[in-house]
Amino acid sequence: MGLRSALLVFTSAVVNAAVTGSSVLNCSTPNIVWPGDDVILPCRLQPPLSAESMRVEWTRPDLEPEFIHVHQDGRFLYELQNPDYNYRTSLFVDQLPNGNVSLKLSRVTQSDAGTYRCSLPSVQQEASVQLSVVSEVIGSDQAVRAVVGGDVILPCHMKPPFDVTTLTVEWKTRNGAVVHKFTNGGDNTDIQNDQFKGRTSLFHDEMHKGNISLKLTNVTLTDAGNYTCSLRKQQQEKKGNVELVFDSNQTIVGSTSSTTTTVTIVIIIAVVLLIACVAVCLIRRRQGNCGGRRQHEQGDTLRT
Ligand SMILES: *[C@@H]1O[C@H](CO)[C@@H](O)[C@H](O)[C@H]1NC(C)=O
Ligand SMILES: *[C@@H]1O[C@H](CO)[C@@H](O)[C@H](O)[C@H]1NC(C)=O
Ligand SMILES: *[C@@H]1O[C@H](CO)[C@@H](O)[C@H](O)[C@H]1NC(C)=O
Ligand SMILES: *[C@@H]1O[C@H](CO)[C@@H](O)[C@H](O)[C@H]1NC(C)=O
Ligand SMILES: *[C@@H]1O[C@H](CO)[C@@H](O)[C@H](O)[C@H]1NC(C)=O
Ligand SMILES: *[C@@H]1O[C@H](CO)[C@@H](O)[C@H](O)[C@H]1NC(C)=O
Repeated sequence: MGLRSALLVFTSAVVNAAVTGSSVLNCSTPNIVWPGDDVILPCRLQPPLSAESMRVEWTRPDLEPEFIHVHQDGRFLYELQNPDYNYRTSLFVDQLPNGNVSLKLSRVTQSDAGTYRCSLPSVQQEASVQLSVVSEVIGSDQAVRAVVGGDVILPCHMKPPFDVTTLTVEWKTRNGAVVHKFTNGGDNTDIQNDQFKGRTSLFHDEMHKGNISLKLTNVTLTDAGNYTCSLRKQQQEKKGNVELVFDSNQTIVGSTSSTTTTVTIVIIIAVVLLIACVAVCLIRRRQGNCGGRRQHEQGDTLRT
């Protein structure tokens, strides 16, 4: 009897050691999330090993306090939690026996983006998960310069970069005219404004990297102005801005008259200034001579 139970304990200890020794904590990176959405940070012990009686620690080493969610002795240790995460975290407690220690985070905010660490101290396992949150659509601070009749790329990209091919990408003018629309995985030219028909394209092989730059061909002067690039997912939208301008010497191609007028005015002003200078000079010289003569006269009167 004693021997039998001792043997049983021994066997299970060996089995446990073997299983523990070979189980690794395997985490993966979730897709980027939009602010307000919920996300699961997926982590599990593989091959499966029950984490029911383990201390499960989710932390963010860059925060103080660093604890996001700690589970021990079958309960959540609320008092350790960083207050920014109050009422927003949970483990799938019914999944712990399968080694699933994934963390669910609700109502994600911009500041939730970062590196999360999951640790199981009792089996000396630890792994990290990167959480990315949709942040900004970046257009261009500097105006893009175009040449009449040429092609131009209006730059726009996501920060942080992520695949946008399943979302709606839209380029519009300042007045709201649709320049280019990409939705349901393809370009939608039906609602495109006539001004841009057949002249726009996106770089489809760049979109999985968050690049939604627009190529505009055969540019005309009426294309000048401000453009917005936007990304939409249901009700949520993020926007960037790009301004398209023409070089002053390029406009000569389109509006010769205004440039000619400017040049003429400049020449006239220059000529007038020159004449004025010469006139002033002459007057000065004459006055100078007069002054000299007057001094002489004064000297003469003094002498007399
Ligand atoms: C981790 O999980 C992924 C996806 O389930 C799998 O492809 C990979 O082999 C696993 N890694 C380990 C070390 O178990
Ligand atoms: C863990 O369980 C949850 C809830 O059932 C599930 O959504 C998630 O995909 C599981 N994660 C892993 C890594 O198995
Ligand atoms: C986006 O793609 C275009 C065309 O290939 C390229 O000129 C531009 O530099 C890219 N932008 C970014 C941010 O990668
Ligand atoms: C460019 O636009 C002008 C004016 O709209 C048009 O006459 C010309 O045919 C266009 N060129 C090309 C190559 O599409
Ligand atoms: C474009 O937007 C910038 C900044 O908002 C503004 O300064 C500029 O005047 C606008 N350009 C046009 C042509 O509307
Ligand atoms: C004018 O044209 C020249 C030659 O094409 C070019 O180098 C220059 O950048 C253009 N713009 C200005 C503002 O001079």
